[in-house]
Amino acid sequence: MKSSWLIVGLVFAAGLLAVALLLLYSLPLEISDRSPVQPIAFSHKVHAGANGIPCLYCHRYAPVSSSAGIPALADCRACHLFISPDSPEIRKLMAYWDKRAAIPWVRVNTLPDHVYFPHMMHIRAKVDCSVCHGAVATMERIGRTATLKMGWCLGCHRRHKASIDCWTCHI
Ligand code: HEC
Ligand code: HEC
Ligand code: HEC
Ligand code: HEC
Ligand code: HEC
Repeated sequence: MKSSWLIVGLVFAAGLLAVALLLLYSLPLEISDRSPVQPIAFSHKVHAGANGIPCLYCHRYAPVSSSAGIPALADCRACHLFISPDSPEIRKLMAYWDKRAAIPWVRVNTLPDHVYFPHMMHIRAKVDCSVCHGAVATMERIGRTATLKMGWCLGCHRRHKASIDCWTCHI
């Protein structure tokens, strides 16, 4: 009697383990860091969506440099001295300002160091931000929407007849 319960228990445990492994295998493992929690609850839906602030107002280096750039705290402060100054999240923002510390935003889209990615070449070629970053203006918290793998870059370069020479992206 006792040993049959042991077998049932073992079979059950093995089943649970199999289900857990299957889930781990089938879910994309990076899913959690694709939309990390940020130090301040900054919402693109509120800023770029509801209030229609243009992407380039904040990411102003995108057309002229390889990095798009994240706005400086002074830019946030310029508006938030007057807009919702008493909200807890804006108080947090002003506390960074008082400490003269930058907001430690967590990066969402990253490439290895050996890859060269110039935003300006893509903006000049009129590739819209949303092609690579998704419908950002609807995102409460920003998340990554593309794989950023080499095959992803190459696929689009082929479609646009852009360079696929190795040294275009690896310098
Ligand atoms: C009011 C300023 C502001 C506006 C307008 C704005 N952004 Fe941002 N954006 C930020 C800030 C601040 C961050 C960093 C915090 C975060 O990730 O939420 C960010 C992060 C991002 C990121 C992720 C960066 C990373 O770490 O990979 C992308 C992509 C992005 N923005 C695209 C856009 C696009 C596209 C638009 C227009 C639809 C836009 N943003 C409009 C301020 C802004
Ligand atoms: C061009 C003006 C402008 C800039 C620049 C701006 N914001 Fe805002 N922000 C707004 C507006 C408008 C709202 C919506 C206020 C509302 O609906 O009550 C808002 C709302 C917010 C809220 C929610 C406040 C609440 O009610 O809890 C946070 C947090 C916030 N902004 C953070 C930031 C950060 C961080 C930056 C800099 C990266 C930034 N904002 C830059 C205009 C701006
Ligand atoms: C062809 C694809 C593509 C397009 C178009 C594109 N991005 Fe990006 N973006 C990327 C990649 C790839 C990264 C990661 C780059 C890295 O880690 O070097 C990135 C990173 C970013 C970042 C992180 C911080 C930084 O300084 O680069 C922001 C912000 C951003 N993009 C905003 C934008 C905005 C705004 C637009 C439109 C004006 C835009 N991007 C258009 C692919 C794209
Ligand atoms: C959605 C389409 C698309 C994606 C995705 C894309 N690119 Fe591009 N890329 C282009 C276009 C279009 C050009 C402009 C070609 C031209 O002007 O001749 C370009 C140009 C470039 C250039 C400059 C080429 C030159 O001849 O100077 C580099 C470097 C580059 N891309 C790297 C990347 C990397 C790295 C990735 C992936 C992380 C990537 N691209 C993803 C469409 C794309
Ligand atoms: C349009 C841009 C682009 C071109 C062209 C390109 N690569 Fe890449 N390559 C990338 C990106 C982006 C990554 C990093 C993606 C990742 O981590 O999977 C990468 C990664 C690699 C890696 C590292 C793979 C790994 O698993 O870490 C090697 C090796 C490589 N590329 C070789 C080449 C060779 C050889 C060519 C020419 C036949 C080439 N690449 C052309 C964008 C490009």
